[in-house]
Amino acid sequence: MTDFSPGLAGIPAARSKVSYLDGSKGLLEYRGIPLDILAQKSHFIETAYLLLFGNLPSASQLEKFDHDIRMHRRIKYRIVDLIKCLPESGHPMDALQASVAALGMFYPAKDVLDPEIQYLSAVRLIAKLPTMIAAYARLRRGDDHVQPRDDLSFAENFLYMLTEKVPDKVMSDIFDTCLILHTEHTMNASTFSGLVTASTLSDPYTVVSSAIGTLMGPLHGGANEQVLTMLSEIGTVDKVRPYIEAKVRAKEKIMGLGHRVYKVKDPRAIILQELAKRLFEHLGTSPLYEIAVEVEKVGEEFLSDKKVYANVDFYSGILYQKMGIETDFFTPIFAMARVTGWLAHAFEQVKDNHIFRPREIYEGEHGRPYISISDR
Ligand code: COA
Repeated sequence: MTDFSPGLAGIPAARSKVSYLDGSKGLLEYRGIPLDILAQKSHFIETAYLLLFGNLPSASQLEKFDHDIRMHRRIKYRIVDLIKCLPESGHPMDALQASVAALGMFYPAKDVLDPEIQYLSAVRLIAKLPTMIAAYARLRRGDDHVQPRDDLSFAENFLYMLTEKVPDKVMSDIFDTCLILHTEHTMNASTFSGLVTASTLSDPYTVVSSAIGTLMGPLHGGANEQVLTMLSEIGTVDKVRPYIEAKVRAKEKIMGLGHRVYKVKDPRAIILQELAKRLFEHLGTSPLYEIAVEVEKVGEEFLSDKKVYANVDFYSGILYQKMGIETDFFTPIFAMARVTGWLAHAFEQVKDNHIFRPREIYEGEHGRPYISISDR
């Protein structure tokens, strides 16, 4: 039993050059470049290229990649019809998983080692996920699906498809940086699930739909929704201290604080807080922001000895809410960015593939008699 590690905690599942994380220093690098530098200097499409292909693109490589993604934003009317048929009471992540699985049926990609197939699948998935997410947001409330616009940037186009309004530059730049922050995060549950699927040589659409299914769970992608609920429940700044005291006394978790790997403030939370401040300067503050800052401050007083600090989910929900995005779309937006990391890992996996086949420790009985139904 000594070799059993629940959740495979601490057991390496792959060798990878995609990203690196040092939880004690709060360092996250994509392909060796620190995240804070990418957040300042890069944009989502360039960062996606870096993750997928290992290096920052030259000007002509970036121009082609960006152009290809713009040209593949449209989705087939049959996918739109499929999304129309999904119940409006369902979760957008279910809708996204179903549409990505269906998407793969239109673009057979059986030879997963073919670089051309890998490139085109990545382009299609990065380009079409936002269109499918925005289509579900609109169709579920009875509005028409908004066609993507090739002349808009990736971030502008997504916010445009949601609202039919082209966002201003401050908002679209902030949204683009949020995507960079969610693009990749080493070996986590959804990336691992994508890797397991990739290791069977399934096509990239199936890899991504597996990973979406894993991201959907409340222990992975859903905490930012719960942070918003918590902040709304607290209601005012003066109620923060008694709320935190009661939670700590009851040994209950405070949403948006703590992380499996980071033992300092999550570097993504630091950047998201700055982005939130910029957005509020531009659009007016959010009443939840003052409460969040107080939760973080009082939370630190009580929990810093356990190395529990704000994580990526702490400020992202407040920020997306201010942009007018519905709460149940926060995780699909996470998926829209993370598709790049999932694919980068999947392509690395198939290059030197071993199908995942872990062992289990059998704890059941042996040699039991079969009792006929009349005697049971
Ligand atoms: N609020 C209050 N106490 C917390 C806490 C939180 N959010 N996160 C951890 N702690 C406490 C634990 O109760 C534990 O205390 P103990 O030693 O007295 O038992 C100690 O800090 C260590 O916590 P542990 O559960 O071992 O941390 P972990 O690394 O296993 O868990 C999380 C990390 C993310 C599961 C956990 O911090 C959590 O549930 N956070 C809230 C949900 C959330 O925001 N999730 C998104 C993560 S990106």
